[in-house]
Amino acid sequence: MSQLELRDITVERGGRPVVKDVTITVPAGEVTALLGPNGAGKSSLVLAVGGVLRPRPGSVLLDGTELAGQRPERIRAAGVAIVPEGRRLLPDLSVDDNIRVATYALSKKDAADGRARALELFPRLGQRLTVPARLLSGGEQQMVVLAQALVSQPRYILIDELSLGLAPVIVNQLIPVIREVAASGVGILLIEQFATVALSLATGAHVMEGGVLRYSGTAAELKEHPDRLHSAYLLRGSAVEASAVLDGSVAEALGDASGAGEKAELRPVRAVPHMMPR
Ligand SMILES: Nc1ncnc2c1ncn2[C@@H]1O[C@H](COP(=O)(O)OP(=O)(O)O)[C@@H](O)[C@H]1O
Ligand SMILES: [Mg+2]
Repeated sequence: MSQLELRDITVERGGRPVVKDVTITVPAGEVTALLGPNGAGKSSLVLAVGGVLRPRPGSVLLDGTELAGQRPERIRAAGVAIVPEGRRLLPDLSVDDNIRVATYALSKKDAADGRARALELFPRLGQRLTVPARLLSGGEQQMVVLAQALVSQPRYILIDELSLGLAPVIVNQLIPVIREVAASGVGILLIEQFATVALSLATGAHVMEGGVLRYSGTAAELKEHPDRLHSAYLLRGSAVEASAVLDGSVAEALGDASGAGEKAELRPVRAVPHMMPR
């Protein structure tokens, strides 16, 4: 069984460790959720796996092959793509050109196949190919960013904040795509502010806080024991924050495990004032 294993990863930023000894296994064909409050170290972990930051120490093993410390292009070529936080597109380039720039390292055939696959997953983009990225809605921008990661037809994909800043109706359009990509055999690590969305898609789940893992287990177990998510957030000393995560998220998922993400009321963690993005 193929898997991407992040083993004992520590990442330093600004001279201090912001990810400490984190071990997460991402199996092929499944969604693994990574939850946690702002500043937990989730994005730093993703950047370390993608080769943008260097894990010291730490291993990123793709079916046993060490990728840690390799250049981002090598990691991507090996089959691991990251969707970084923030949706940075080239604003004056068209949708199609933004997708094409992500294919530069691919053969002509792989680029054509990857582009076709991305447009199959996001038919909406097919109707917007000539539109400059700056004129896209937030949801369309996220589709392009996801398409940029998918064009290389990765075996593993790490998505940092799928739904940040998007309306629930848009998030609901992205969920089936994530499901379909996983069902096609891709292993997905999903960082997601809406616990409902993440836990309805995921098999495995992890909660990170203060650079360390506070919970590692199944998504089902986390749905049944929301206190574990609760206590991780409470460790930060904010009951408000914890209730924002739970109210309308884990609680909803508890009530309807089958596709709860589509129907549940979505309430972002970041709606809590002191958790607004920097
Ligand atoms: N460029 C940077 N330089 C130094 N510290 C940073 C930088 N970016 C983020 N950090 C710090 O790293 C920690 C983890 O941040 P981050 O990985 O963005 O967490 P998350 O994605 O869970 O919100 C935070 O304390 C944050 O302030
Ligand atoms: Mg982040």
